[in-house]
Amino acid sequence: MSRKMKNKVLSNLRIERIASEGKCVAHYEGKVVFVQNVAPGDLVDVRITKGRSAFMEGEAINFHEFSKDRVEPFCRHFGTCGGCKWQHINYDLQKTYKWQQVVDQFTRIAKVPIPKVSRIIGSANTQYYRNKLDFTFSNNRWLTKEEINSEETFERNALGFHIPKMFDKIVDIDHCYLQGNISNEIRNSLRDFALREKLSFYDIRNQVGLLRNLIVRTSSTEEIMVIVQFGEEDKVAVQKVMQFLKDCFPSIDSLLYIINLKKNETFHDQEVITFYGKDFIEEQMEGLRFRIGPKSFYQTNSDQAYELYKVARSFAELDGREVVYDLYTGTGTIANFVAKMAKQVIGIEYVEAAIEDAKINSQLNGLKNTLFYAGDMKDVLNEEFLETHPKPDVVITDPPRAGMHEDVVKMLMKLQPQKIVYVSCNPATQARDIALMAEKYSVEKIQPVDMFPQTYHVENVVQLILKS
Ligand SMILES: C[S@@+](CC[C@H](N)C(=O)[O-])C[C@H]1O[C@@H](n2cnc3c(N)ncnc32)[C@H](O)[C@@H]1O
Repeated sequence: MSRKMKNKVLSNLRIERIASEGKCVAHYEGKVVFVQNVAPGDLVDVRITKGRSAFMEGEAINFHEFSKDRVEPFCRHFGTCGGCKWQHINYDLQKTYKWQQVVDQFTRIAKVPIPKVSRIIGSANTQYYRNKLDFTFSNNRWLTKEEINSEETFERNALGFHIPKMFDKIVDIDHCYLQGNISNEIRNSLRDFALREKLSFYDIRNQVGLLRNLIVRTSSTEEIMVIVQFGEEDKVAVQKVMQFLKDCFPSIDSLLYIINLKKNETFHDQEVITFYGKDFIEEQMEGLRFRIGPKSFYQTNSDQAYELYKVARSFAELDGREVVYDLYTGTGTIANFVAKMAKQVIGIEYVEAAIEDAKINSQLNGLKNTLFYAGDMKDVLNEEFLETHPKPDVVITDPPRAGMHEDVVKMLMKLQPQKIVYVSCNPATQARDIALMAEKYSVEKIQPVDMFPQTYHVENVVQLILKS
């Protein structure tokens, strides 16, 4: 298929099934066409956006028939905002598609013998399930076609989410169904205040503007953390904004800000200043308390995190005699969750502040058999470390989407723990890593868990057993 296909319209393609990353598959003259934002069963005309030799990619420009499995999306931002791409598919089918993705990735990428993949554990809450949202301020609000075609002038400042694949366009959000209502209230009030006070919204192209980013974190203990990132060091304006939040939202437990003059919004290397209250919030799970600082990762769906950890713990099959390594431990949540059932647990994690929280979390919970180390996994988990620490009987690993570094996989193959429990938010990289371990490990159990309803994302837990 040549580049000549680009922009060509293919008529009446029947959407057949879901592929990875939420794309759907259709066929044209025997070639696969990946189509975004459709549902299996739709009959559509597709404009080709990429024509490659093996496959094409395109967008649906005209719908002749809608799939019978479609449901009415509940959010008015659906289709523009990149947040919940599967709102048009009913939840039972979403779960089936996610399960199928796991099966497909293990069949196509891992290519190792696998047991029957267990039914996905669904989320009781399919709306308002997130405990963290990250909103961006922008002076370049995304305009709808109707707005562009009208002669009117519109407010261009916005506070909301990025349009998929457009770093400089933000859809202004007035209600988000992902996080409880306090999050909507804080975001909308802050935007209204900033507009009233004529404070500048960030201009990402020119890297100027006062208001840059807003993060709202909530927890199952009903604590609230708010972090505002500023792109300018204007003390008076910063004070004004933070005081507004403090006065309007007395329920905020941890009110923080960052002056971030860097090119990007990441703040792991920036100073976080406490304006009011504590510099952390707390989660609770099975009577355990977890302290979460502004730089620390915590699973974004607290209720499903509990389901996930229960699966990980049951796959670890601990009887109290084992040394467990919890790789990519974050704030030590899994480490602390399994500690009572193990002899010793060693957690390793990149973010130093998270490791500090992990240690405090053990203290808070009276756990004395945990040890935590900060650093890049491939550097920390080396020969010297293994000479000075007991070897693991069980390794629980929960890497970021990119999966484990090759050196970490090699080290696991050398260490040869009896059991590896691999938790992943990306079954594709998980399947890739497991293929590298297939010589020594067999896949015994696979359990997908849905942490992110209305999206194509799926979490997956695999139990690997050392071959005898
Ligand atoms: C998916 S999270 C899992 C966290 C934890 N297991 C939990 O359930 O809360 C992945 C973690 O890996 C950490 N991380 C990412 N890259 C890393 C690296 N190269 N070395 C060590 N940790 C890393 C991140 O900071 C993050 O805390």
